[in-house]
Amino acid sequence: MRKRQIIIDCDPGLDDAVALLLAFAATDRLDVLGITTVAGNVRGGLTFRNARIIRDVAGLDRNVPVCAGAPRPLVRDPVTAEDFHGTTGLGGLDLPKPKGRASRQHAVNFLIKTLRATKGFPATLVVTGPMTNVALALTMAPDIAEGLSEIVVMGGADREGGNITPHAEFNIFADPHAAQTVFQSGIAMRVLSLDVTHQLLTDDTMVERVRALGSPQAIIAADLLAASNRLEESVKARHAPLHDPSTLLALLRPDLFEGRKARVSVVMEEGERFGKTLPDYRHDGHVEWCTDVDKEAVFAELLGQLGRYPL
Ligand code: RIB
Ligand code: CA
Repeated sequence: MRKRQIIIDCDPGLDDAVALLLAFAATDRLDVLGITTVAGNVRGGLTFRNARIIRDVAGLDRNVPVCAGAPRPLVRDPVTAEDFHGTTGLGGLDLPKPKGRASRQHAVNFLIKTLRATKGFPATLVVTGPMTNVALALTMAPDIAEGLSEIVVMGGADREGGNITPHAEFNIFADPHAAQTVFQSGIAMRVLSLDVTHQLLTDDTMVERVRALGSPQAIIAADLLAASNRLEESVKARHAPLHDPSTLLALLRPDLFEGRKARVSVVMEEGERFGKTLPDYRHDGHVEWCTDVDKEAVFAELLGQLGRYPL
């Protein structure tokens, strides 16, 4: 069976980095066409650098392009999340500088060019940061919707409430206008919100099971997860949810997730609900809003995928 073609738009970020390592491990099932980066957890220059570092860590041929995108949100003032990711975005881990060639193509132009070329075999766009690049690409070239089978997003919250304000989740809060554009595009979407990722809290035992896999990549994934736990505990006094990796795990094992069809809008008016996602659950919705997950099976899948890296 032909591999699923994916593009990952991200803001690495510790959990984005683990999601990238998952994607690069699943080479039997996923064909990573490219990585696009956006300002989010940390400023755009760092998310671009971090994505290239993780591409090198994965040992992937340098031909997987990494393209830098929007340096700021569409409308609102920029917001970052160094408290949860450290000033570098990778929790202060001492990883080698990026070696692979840095693409000079803008992420939005990469998305448009690539998704115009996948109209014959539509690709999946995985988004684990603010949706700025995606909104710009859809606005500049609405026809790229024909090159997309679905958009899988980590973002938003309904039942759970927010993590950056009482109402808003970070990725949406960081660019609510972009999120509204993407949600309103009508393109099939699957949303891994806090409603699901807060059911996937990591713990030290799970981190050490990842480390015990023994490959250089698994050890670095464990270091990333441990750093995420350390920073999360310092801010929220709990272990870190498996936010961004849940997108890849939902792609690889959709049977482990349950959801409801919805149409989704975003609060864009200034005020305490700014950036809140509002799922309208309805059978004709184009968005699959994930609500529940088999935690143990998902963690087993995470181990299985990271275990594919050779010792
Ligand atoms: O709210 C969690 C999301 O915000 C994750 O994507 C994390 O990387 C941060 O970007
Ligand atoms: Ca992210």
